[in-house]
Amino acid sequence: MVELLEGLTFDDVLLKPKKSPIISRKDVSTKTKLTNKIFLNIPFVSSNMDSVTEAALSIALAREGGVGIIHRFMPIEQQVVEVLKVKRAESILVENPYTIGPETTMKELRELVDEQGVTSWLVVDDNRKLLGIITNRDMKFRNLDSSKVTEYMTPYKDLVTAPVGTPVEKAKEILMEKRLEKLPIVDEKGLLQGLITTKDIDKRERYPQAAKDIRGKLLVGATVGVKSGFLERAKVLVAAEADFLCVDVAHGHSDLALNTIRAIKKDLGDVQIVAGNVATYEGALDLMSAGVDCVKIGVGPGSTCLTRIMTGAGVPQMTAIFDCVKASREMGIPVMADGGMRKPGDVVKALAAGAHTVMSGNIFAGTEETPGITILRYGRKQKIYRGSASFGSALTRKSRESKDDIIVDDYTPEGAEAIVPLKGSVSEVMKDFLGGLRSGLSYCGARTIEEMHKNAVFIKMSPAGLQESGAHDVQPV
Ligand code: XMP
Repeated sequence: MVELLEGLTFDDVLLKPKKSPIISRKDVSTKTKLTNKIFLNIPFVSSNMDSVTEAALSIALAREGGVGIIHRFMPIEQQVVEVLKVKRAESILVENPYTIGPETTMKELRELVDEQGVTSWLVVDDNRKLLGIITNRDMKFRNLDSSKVTEYMTPYKDLVTAPVGTPVEKAKEILMEKRLEKLPIVDEKGLLQGLITTKDIDKRERYPQAAKDIRGKLLVGATVGVKSGFLERAKVLVAAEADFLCVDVAHGHSDLALNTIRAIKKDLGDVQIVAGNVATYEGALDLMSAGVDCVKIGVGPGSTCLTRIMTGAGVPQMTAIFDCVKASREMGIPVMADGGMRKPGDVVKALAAGAHTVMSGNIFAGTEETPGITILRYGRKQKIYRGSASFGSALTRKSRESKDDIIVDDYTPEGAEAIVPLKGSVSEVMKDFLGGLRSGLSYCGARTIEEMHKNAVFIKMSPAGLQESGAHDVQPV
């Protein structure tokens, strides 16, 4: 017999207000876990879409305490570069600082500075013995010819260095006292082992909430698909220190996705995997049994999703979250609600229903840190936001793969292309959403997301309830 089930989404429900022990919104914690091994200070994850997450957005979001997942719609080498940019953006000890050999000429150095955008270079010999440091300042007013960098560098004997294991506070003291910007770390043989910079110390103090790995580098995830080549991509991304992989496919409850997850786990051991998308208890359970560390929930709720229109399949997102959370509680594996959240209250509802994190494209679309150009249209600044299965996104991928004419007869888009207003920075957008989350926790009488998981009571509302929920009977200004 054909079954008919019922489903609810964000606008169908409200959270029942509860007695609150919270005096100030500052007293609640927004900490959560992405997987049982990866922890975040805010529950926000940016969608792995080509108009949303590359290095810039990942850096900005990780500094706020969340995490970005670099999309996969680019060649492997480029995706690795994006991951490395995030991992290099902040770390107290730069383990592999930029170095050059003593034979490098001033002309070559100029080229390196222009290409890499790096203004200070450590000069080392073949054994990585530190010989000196040369910076932009040493290049000024010099004849950038074939003379060697060793002529103009500050030599080792005049350098201030520190031994391996120097604590950050000590490094800060030395840098301040000597009015320096760079402190090379060397071992007892004078071999270069790292670099500590004032810039990195400043950043650490400026972003105390940042989500970091055990080495103090910002967290970042990277996406792989399920078609041939996924294992090769997975390996190089893990080698580039991606903190987790995201196995992403529109219909995650499929043999293809399950086999991909098993193959990656088998080959790469304990790499953390976020996988999806699914929208049912059975889907979440199967992914968890295959070894994933976080399940991504959502079939068709996204603002650029056409899946439900094109295929008739999907689950209203609140019901999908409720169902997948059952599997999460049975298996002890976290889940992420992906897509469909437009307002801070939607995020609170997703988390209250039992999700540990939320993924969004829409919330971040149009921020300064998203990829793509800013368009000035009718006097308004806008950016493109497009579904991963949109015509434009597919066309970009196909044109990269082939130099010939592109045949698109057989491509049925399941994603929309849109323009969104420029919204400001990720940090500004997050302020609004975090304000809503903190208040939402308080309304649920919960100090933490974990407490809200236990406390939350939902009320199903009627269309009249929904109408009453927004501004009404007033003229909006
Ligand atoms: P929001 O609502 O934040 O949703 O825009 C983002 C999520 O939408 C999914 N996504 C798609 N779904 N066709 C779809 O059906 C697409 O082309 C598409 N692109 C992205 C994805 O899960 C994302 O995180």
